[in-house]
Amino acid sequence: MKVRKAVIAVAGWGIRFLPITKAQPKEMLPLVDKPLIQYSVEEAINSGIEQVILVTALGKRAIEDYFDRSFELEYVLERKGETKRLQEMRELSDLVNVCYIRQKEQLGLGHAILTAKDIIGEEPFAVLLPDDIVDSKVPVLKQMIKVYEQYKTNIVAVERIDRQDTTKYGIIEPKKISGHMYQVLSLTEKPEPSQAPSNLGVVGRYILVPQIFDVLEVTPPGKNQEIQLTDALQLLIKRQAILAYEFEGVRYDTGTPLGWLKATMAFALKRPDIGQELREYLRQLL
Ligand code: G1P
Repeated sequence: MKVRKAVIAVAGWGIRFLPITKAQPKEMLPLVDKPLIQYSVEEAINSGIEQVILVTALGKRAIEDYFDRSFELEYVLERKGETKRLQEMRELSDLVNVCYIRQKEQLGLGHAILTAKDIIGEEPFAVLLPDDIVDSKVPVLKQMIKVYEQYKTNIVAVERIDRQDTTKYGIIEPKKISGHMYQVLSLTEKPEPSQAPSNLGVVGRYILVPQIFDVLEVTPPGKNQEIQLTDALQLLIKRQAILAYEFEGVRYDTGTPLGWLKATMAFALKRPDIGQELREYLRQLL
């Protein structure tokens, strides 16, 4: 069965980004001039996804407004003769078929995914975490869907990380299958470097089969008292294969101010309209 639906988890508080996230969803922070969430939505669309399910929470209304139509704004742009911007705004609201679910209590990523159970139904689906933005020729999710079509089982995206950073990721115990592919023997959420089974960290892209929901329903709270997707995957391994795919592309963790700044610089430097001037400015600054 084709991967048609993608769940994007946007319910987190963005604690690493306080104070701005007190009254502003972190997913609406800009990367140059587009909000972070748009990169994930566009990645999903460019990977062939037909329906995007955003798991939101209290204080995230700006995201819903962003993908909605604004007749007032269109009216103003039309009167001002801003035809190009008007066109862009219409394209934005036509971008995708989005549906929203509210996670009423922030009980963890696993719990957020579980709220999408009825909308997903009995089909494989993708999960994207918008903190992880990947700059790549082929969208990471598209790379993963290709792998899924070959193996027809759960796939997690992984990347080699620094040993001292294992406390920031789900870490896999790998068994190499081929160049970029591993069988996952076990997964641990954010282990200490000395306890980590490898330095292959899970990056926020998953393709999951619907059996994950049965497991999520019985997954007890784990790290930080949250229902962890990593723990559910660990339970699922007993029933079904989980594969890990080392993707092609450069990943940025935009969930921290430094990671976000690095991504902002990298994306801005590549822009034909501002890149050159910014490069010169940075040279002067240094
Ligand atoms: C989540 C997952 C973790 C994964 C990471 C990727 O953690 O729980 O397993 O490695 O995303 O970004 P978070 O970054 O939300 O704490």
